[in-house]
Amino acid sequence: MQQLTILRPDDWHLHVRDGAVLADIVPETSKVFHRAVIMPNLVPPVTTVSAALEYRQRIMAAVPPQHSFQPLMALYLTQTTSVDEIRAAAANPHVIGFKLYPAGATTNSAAGVTAVNDMAPAFEAMAEHGVPLLIHGEVTESEIDIFDREKVFIDRYLRHIVAQHPQLTVILEHITTADAAQFVNEAHARVGATITPQHLLMNRNDLLVGGIRPHNFCLPVLKRRTHQEALQQAAISGSPKFFLGTDSAPHVQHKKETACGCAGCYSAPAAIELYAEFFSRMDALDKLENFASRFGAEFYGLPVNETTITLVQTPWQVPATVTAGGEPFVPYWAGETLQWRVRN
Ligand code: NCD
Ligand code: ZN
Repeated sequence: MQQLTILRPDDWHLHVRDGAVLADIVPETSKVFHRAVIMPNLVPPVTTVSAALEYRQRIMAAVPPQHSFQPLMALYLTQTTSVDEIRAAAANPHVIGFKLYPAGATTNSAAGVTAVNDMAPAFEAMAEHGVPLLIHGEVTESEIDIFDREKVFIDRYLRHIVAQHPQLTVILEHITTADAAQFVNEAHARVGATITPQHLLMNRNDLLVGGIRPHNFCLPVLKRRTHQEALQQAAISGSPKFFLGTDSAPHVQHKKETACGCAGCYSAPAAIELYAEFFSRMDALDKLENFASRFGAEFYGLPVNETTITLVQTPWQVPATVTAGGEPFVPYWAGETLQWRVRN
């Protein structure tokens, strides 16, 4: 049987929600990953260090005692985030950075930034205090086609942010286009990107051909095949600017399978196995460890994990549903086969 041992991975973009479902969602990640960047798009959003530390306590209470897991909290950037809050974030080791959601771009983003161009003082303070800026890179103007929203965000806003704040660390989250991969590649070394399993394994045909597949719907939405191929090349390129961020984003089954379904793929139940599937299909399994376990930590200036996990080549089927808080959730890749599995 084929085996692959790699340093324990980290997930640099994760939604674990809150309340009754938290206790069942956190272990899906903590069973494999040592650290995860926790997204702040709760209702109400996690906008302050004190709210993030309280949320962190609730997450830690959900980590099974046999798991070793560190949540790294992202704070929700608003139009009125103060320089004092940015200083407090910089001083707290449990806070990793601020997340910029353009208002209305995605799930629970109503409180997001409405005028990116007015955020320069906040970006300047973040650059000065060494606080990373994590970005959901899509414009929200209704006249912009949904498939163009990432590229337009880069051209309209991101180029200026990076040029005007050269000391600012920027992570373009869950990139979906060749334009984003090229932008990150050509930018200076403090600009990086996370890539999800669904954007490596799928393109928009998997969303729309033969019927709408709500469990493949996420934001930014899957793009055409040429974009998928550009992301695939970025992930296997060996460039340390591209690293693992699942964007695992659970929504209860009835909120996905409905006339107006929520955006988000719940990939945590099979996260590292989905990436292994992708790297294996690309004949690039030797690139998995750096992408999953090294580049993200190095980018954020954190130590690389010392423990390992072992993946075994043994086909298995992702379950049709998993339960959280007593309710059914359909995981990404449900009912489909994966070739690699973490050995417990
Ligand atoms: C995320 C969610 O559900 O919170 N959804 C998604 O489609 N990715 C929000 C986000 O990261 O955009
Ligand atoms: Zn997300």
